[in-house]
Amino acid sequence: MTPTGTASNQGDTTDTEAEPHQLDEETFYGEVRSFSFWFEAVEGYLEGRPYGYDPAMPEEQLDQQHRERIVTTLCNYCVGEAAALEAASGMVRLAPNHNSRIFMATQVADEARHLEVFLHRIGQLGVQDPEAEVQRLAHPNIVAFKARLLELVDDGDWDASVFALNVLLETLEFTVFRYHARTADAITSQILDGVVSDERRHLGFGENTLGHHLVAHPDDRARLTEMKSQLDTLVLGAFEGAYDDLGLHRDQRPQLGRDYLEAVERLGLLG
Ligand SMILES: [Fe+2]
Ligand SMILES: [Fe+2]
Repeated sequence: MTPTGTASNQGDTTDTEAEPHQLDEETFYGEVRSFSFWFEAVEGYLEGRPYGYDPAMPEEQLDQQHRERIVTTLCNYCVGEAAALEAASGMVRLAPNHNSRIFMATQVADEARHLEVFLHRIGQLGVQDPEAEVQRLAHPNIVAFKARLLELVDDGDWDASVFALNVLLETLEFTVFRYHARTADAITSQILDGVVSDERRHLGFGENTLGHHLVAHPDDRARLTEMKSQLDTLVLGAFEGAYDDLGLHRDQRPQLGRDYLEAVERLGLLG
């Protein structure tokens, strides 16, 4: 992959004359992937919400069974967020240019915050050792997805990592969190709303980066399609683990999986 827009080629007049559109694009991405853009975005929904929600918000009365269901769900979210955090941090090194590298650094901060707020919420719901609880309750499919994602990062495969993290995992989270925010207690719901806003940004990066990549490398579509069919089994299996926790009726269950598959399809990346 050719690095573009790096400090070393900025001001290169040959590039300026040869590819003005590319430079415009670099300026644009330099802005929308910057920390100041990120800060403006998160400020709106995180200011005054140290753990993702307004501390003045009263806790709802939750019975024991409901509380346990939320804890199980949040434990599974923590596996997804830890996967995203560890993968994104590794991807800072793999990124082909500085604006992607900087964006991944903002994503590292977001994913660390997501992990933090979910662990905090689990503790608030009465769990003494949230980290141990995550290990105890994590669904095998989301654990397997995490292992596969980190293998792609360890292999140094930037495009596959962007696809698995910023397209597949982000779409899964975006779909489930948005659904869950509608049915959860008020505090969990506010936390989820803030997380969804971040995931939307991460998904946008994946859609854009992969879209550009596949225009330049259409042959890679077959490889990513094959990867998707393998990873979808794990993603849809993770839904199986979340159904009971989300309190979904049997007839609502297939819809969530369909929403995920349709959301990935709507991106139009794989044709
Ligand atoms: Fe996240
Ligand atoms: Fe994310």
